[in-house]
Amino acid sequence: MAEEQALTKIPQHVGIIMDGNGRWAQARGLPRLEGHRAGTENIRRVLEACGQYGVKTLTIYAFSTENWSRPDEEVKGLFRILEEVIDREVKNFHRQGVRLRHLGSLEGISESMRKKVQKAIELTKDNKKFTLNVAFNYGGRAEILDAVRKMIAARVAAQEVDEERMEQYLYTAGQPPPDLIIRTGGEMRLSNFLIWQAAYAEYYSTPTFWPDFDTSELYKALLAYQERERKFGGLPEKVLARG
Ligand code: IPE
Ligand code: IPE
Ligand code: MG
Repeated sequence: MAEEQALTKIPQHVGIIMDGNGRWAQARGLPRLEGHRAGTENIRRVLEACGQYGVKTLTIYAFSTENWSRPDEEVKGLFRILEEVIDREVKNFHRQGVRLRHLGSLEGISESMRKKVQKAIELTKDNKKFTLNVAFNYGGRAEILDAVRKMIAARVAAQEVDEERMEQYLYTAGQPPPDLIIRTGGEMRLSNFLIWQAAYAEYYSTPTFWPDFDTSELYKALLAYQERERKFGGLPEKVLARG
């Protein structure tokens, strides 16, 4: 990191669509699951680098509501790998001051996985240094529907439904929206990731497959973010200054 140009504008919240595991494996003549395994190995190093750069929240997209449509063997393998990651990493994350959160639904998830997730959330809930949101069994549309159902169940009156209220019912309640969304694997789409929260996020897509996305790739994404001018529908500073 020493020779890099210093970064002056750091996103507080980064979202990553960790895509390309399957293609990474196929390119090496390996089964797709080996790509998923390599992908999970990468999470720790990217999280640590985010922390060093001053990012406060990282949200990783691990399994979408649409990924259930994959062959049974891949889905089962993916959950097995995710469970192994929890077993292996939670203590380390806790030691590093990382608060773990889950975005998504725990319905349809095995009892043992559900317990592990709840335990990890409970263990790390008071950590303040960094927040890691893991989006699995997550879909942006499902999240919005869940929020609407919860509002109706809580008898929220129609005139009280505004953007602020809506956000209190999303899985990300109380958290800032993502500033930067990175997608590995080259596609230029959201695939149902944080569709409400990312309304004004900056997007960055790289052809690099997720298992190969290293700290220098992260630096490139942060550098691209720094060059962007965020306007949120307003006018840029220089135009306003000219009057
Ligand atoms: C992303 O990698 C991980 C998940 C969706 C679980 P993919 O499995 O989508 O990899 P590609 O896109 O087929 O290469
Ligand atoms: C998005 O990747 C979901 C995750 C990374 C978990 P997909 O591979 O499922 O997205 P599509 O199918 O290419 O849109
Ligand atoms: Mg994919």
